[in-house]
Amino acid sequence: MSDPAADPPGEPARHEHGDRLLRSVVRGVWAPLAVTAAGTVIAATTALALPAALAAVLDAVLAGEHAYGTVAALVLVLVLAAAAEVVSAVAGATSTASATESLRLRFIARLLSLDVARARRLPAGELANRLVSNTATVGHIPLALLHAMTGILTSVGGLAALFVIDWRAGAAFLAGVPVAAVVVRLFVSRVSDLYDRYQDAQGRLAARLTDTLAGIRTVRASGTTDREIARVLAPLPELSAAGHALWRAQARSVWQITLLLPLVEVGVLAVAGLGVADGRLEPGQLVAVAGYTALALAFFEQIDMLLDVAHARSAARRVGDVLALPAPAPGTRPLPDGPGALSFRGVTVAGDDAPLLDDVDLEIPAGVLAAVVGRSGVGKSTLALLAGRLIDPDRGQVLLDGLPLRELDPRALRGAVAYAFERPVLLGDDLAAAIAYGLPGTGHAAVREAARAAHVDDVVRRLPEGYGTPPGAAPLSGGEIQRLGLARALVRRARLTVLDDATSSLDTATEARVTLALTEGMRGRTRLLVAHRAATAARADLVVWLDGGRIRARGTHRELWRDPDYRALFAAETGSSARTSSEEEPCPAGS
Ligand SMILES: Nc1ncnc2c1ncn2[C@@H]1O[C@H](COP(=O)(O)OP(=O)(O)OP(=O)(O)O)[C@@H](O)[C@H]1O
Ligand SMILES: [Mg+2]
Repeated sequence: MSDPAADPPGEPARHEHGDRLLRSVVRGVWAPLAVTAAGTVIAATTALALPAALAAVLDAVLAGEHAYGTVAALVLVLVLAAAAEVVSAVAGATSTASATESLRLRFIARLLSLDVARARRLPAGELANRLVSNTATVGHIPLALLHAMTGILTSVGGLAALFVIDWRAGAAFLAGVPVAAVVVRLFVSRVSDLYDRYQDAQGRLAARLTDTLAGIRTVRASGTTDREIARVLAPLPELSAAGHALWRAQARSVWQITLLLPLVEVGVLAVAGLGVADGRLEPGQLVAVAGYTALALAFFEQIDMLLDVAHARSAARRVGDVLALPAPAPGTRPLPDGPGALSFRGVTVAGDDAPLLDDVDLEIPAGVLAAVVGRSGVGKSTLALLAGRLIDPDRGQVLLDGLPLRELDPRALRGAVAYAFERPVLLGDDLAAAIAYGLPGTGHAAVREAARAAHVDDVVRRLPEGYGTPPGAAPLSGGEIQRLGLARALVRRARLTVLDDATSSLDTATEARVTLALTEGMRGRTRLLVAHRAATAARADLVVWLDGGRIRARGTHRELWRDPDYRALFAAETGSSARTSSEEEPCPAGS
């Protein structure tokens, strides 16, 4: 795929935001660039002065005069040239490094501020390729442009000098220009497209590799290793074709240019040589003509730079695609005092065909433990994501203590809402840091207390390094990771805690104990719990039953249990009798 977004912008838009990005990158490093430019101008000036200085020394020596002054001038030119080279090299490297760095920061910041539903659908491998390789290519562009500009200026200066020495020599040079211009133009338009093709194929390959590694268990269990190798490498022919075409384009242009340059050079020198023979020019001037012709010819050697620009434009499009993804705007208001009442007002979330949630109104009073139940795929997790603004609704609003979450300052929001997920990812240097993730300064006692409440403290302490174990190195089961995720939510002591299937991998006995921590241990704090088990729903103060994108009913588990359809939600758990039992039958777990 050429674009990571679900709804990619059209080609003209890609070109436009790619070019806009290039401009903003150049603006961002103007200071080191200005120093590089100054150094380069001095270097270019000295380069222009060098043939003249040499010619002066030669003419003075041939004329038998004292050459001290002219030699001193030559030495000065050489020293200046060396100093300018050093300064511009250092400042140039600085501009590339800082442009790349700021681009990568923007890239990551944008990715991490996206709506989580969208962010999770992006191809990770593709993005890694863009982050590492494409940003570096774009970061190099300010310097490449500067070099190109000074290269061209130097060439123009060389040409002007040719005209000053001998207009015939200048005219001989100009005769070669139109042909070279045509060759260069053709080359740039050809390679720009080829670079796009090459980089897209590279990105597809990276994306496929990441997908396969993420699903390595399935691949091995299904015995599809060979098929996966073929699938991952499928973009290879395209990559190879684009690469070869690039080489061919490059070779053809280089061949044409290489043939052209000596022709031009020979022409100019022949004209100047005739000038010396006619007595129109001094021998020293012939040397200067040779030097200035070489300078002026450097114009055509800017082909490398043009390659860089073509490459960078294509890379800029790929980075720009990501920077142009719309991210929800952060709010600015502080969190009002309040006990943690959560409201959904006319909340609609669009799906691919039908809405996932359709005009949902729901009040969850402060301090309540609310369970959300419903069939798989009915939108429970979507509701949970909305509750802490991990996604925004397409219509309607979600409010915490009367303030729309959209208006709430992100730091206040993150302090107010804690999450635990079905498959938590543990982030942090060690397990203690993973539990206190995002809460620097949390004491060890608080971490352990949360771990105890989540019934995972003894698991962690049995590890040789205990809480100091790096998460990746810990041999943990799915249920143990889930409980660590739960501890991470509990340690936050947030106004609202959202638990989305956060105990689904636990055995019934452990789940019952953990649920106790949620019911008894968190009394007075608002909890929204997505549940699949009747026992969990039975402990909730309020059960919200989602069905068909809407709230089908709300009440206590005991009240809802009268409905056979509600009982059918838990049928497998409570035995087939649940489906046929009468309304009078006591609910199994509620009593
Ligand atoms: N970003 C999205 N875009 C489009 N469809 C989505 C998106 N996220 C989820 N869905 C779809 O929305 C529906 C509801 O998903 P959700 O994860 O909320 O269900 P759920 O009730 O939590 O299910 P489960 O009990 O299996 O976890 C599913 O059909 C899912 O395929
Ligand atoms: Mg779910």
